[in-house]
Amino acid sequence: MILDSNNSYKGVIDRYKQFLPVTGNTPRITLLEGNTPLIHSPVLSEKLGSRFDVYLKYEGLNPTGSFKDRGMTVAIAKAVEEKMKAVICASTGNTSASAAAYSARAGIKCVVVIPEGAIALGKLAQALIHNAKVIAIKGNFDCALDIVKEIAANYAVTLVNSINPYRIEGQKTASFEICDYLKFGPNFHLLPVGNAGNITAYWKGYKEYYSRGKISCLPQMLGFQAKGASPIVKGKPFKNPETLATAIRIGNPASWQKAIEAREESGGLIDSVTDKQIVSAYKMLAKGEGVFVEPASAASVAGLIKLERKGFFKKVKGKKVTIVCTLTGHGLKDPQIAIKNIKRPPVVKPKIKEVLKISGII
Ligand code: F0G
Repeated sequence: MILDSNNSYKGVIDRYKQFLPVTGNTPRITLLEGNTPLIHSPVLSEKLGSRFDVYLKYEGLNPTGSFKDRGMTVAIAKAVEEKMKAVICASTGNTSASAAAYSARAGIKCVVVIPEGAIALGKLAQALIHNAKVIAIKGNFDCALDIVKEIAANYAVTLVNSINPYRIEGQKTASFEICDYLKFGPNFHLLPVGNAGNITAYWKGYKEYYSRGKISCLPQMLGFQAKGASPIVKGKPFKNPETLATAIRIGNPASWQKAIEAREESGGLIDSVTDKQIVSAYKMLAKGEGVFVEPASAASVAGLIKLERKGFFKKVKGKKVTIVCTLTGHGLKDPQIAIKNIKRPPVVKPKIKEVLKISGII
C-alpha cells in the first residue's frame, strides 16, 4: 500500500497525477481504485521452470471488481470538470458497472446500453443498483457501441467507453504499479483482449515509464482473444462473436489498430484461446492459486499455458524472466459460470457421523 503523509491512499489520479491529464481543477472522483496486488504465482512459475517468475495482477480487487475503475475515475472526473451532466457507454458488463458506480459518486446521470441476455448477472446487478439507466438491445456489443457513439456525437453526453482517451490514461496506471512494485519492467505481459483498450493502455504506460527512465526494459505484450471472438487474430471482424467469456465477446474492437501497434512495437503477439482452455485456466486459478476471476480474465493465464505447451518460453533467453498476467475482473461477477463448473455440494442428515463420512477428514 502506498500512503501519503496522512497515511492515506487517495486513488490513481492522486497517486499518478504527474502522468495524467489532470490539474488542480480536476475533481477527485475516486473510490480508491488501483493499488491492486501483484501476486506471485507459485504454480505457474513452477510450470515454466526455475528461471521464471510469474505474477498475477489481480484487478478484480478494484472497487467495482474490475480494471475499468482505473479509467473510469479519470473519465468521470474529466466529464465533471467539463461540466457534463450525463455519461453513456455500451458494455459487456464491467464498463457499465464501473460507469454506474463512478457516476453515482459524482452525482451525474449514467446511461448504459448492453446486449440483451449477454451480461453476467453480477455486473447487471451493479449497474442497476447504482441507478444507471440500463437499456438492453436485441443486438451484440459492437452494435451497442455504434449506437452510443452516434448518440454521444450528437447530444450533450460524454462517451465513457475506452475510445474516450481519459479511460486509457487511467488504465495505464496498472503498468506503473507493476513497475513500481517490481522496481523494473517485466519481460512479458499477458492480458485478455476484447475491445482492445486495456492492451493499448498497458503499452502506453510501459512506454511512458521507459521514456522517463523509470524502467530499462519494455515487456513483450501478449494478448489473448477468445477463439470464437478473435477478429484481430483472424484479421477480420466477427459478425456473430461467441464465447462463454462474455466480457470479451466482441467482434470488431474499437482499439484494433492500437492493439496491433502494441503487438508490433513490443515484438509480442495476439493469439486466441478456446473456451475450454479458458475454463481450465479459470478452475486452475481458483483451485491452485486461491484466486477467483471471471472467465474472460483467465484468458491471460490460458494463453500462458498454451504458449508454454508450444515451447514458447524455452526459447526465451535470460537468467531471470519475469512475466505478469493481468486478471481483469473478479470471479463473483459471474457466479452462474462458477456454479456450472462445479459439483453441487452433497446434502446429508444433520449428524456428525454423516458429515464426517464424506468430509475426507477421516
Ligand atoms: N476482461 C474483462 C473482465 C473485461 O470486462 C474486458 C472488457 C476485457 C477483459 C477486455 O478489455 O476491452 O480493454 O480489451 N470489457 C468491456 C466492458 C468491453 O464493456 O466491460 P478490453
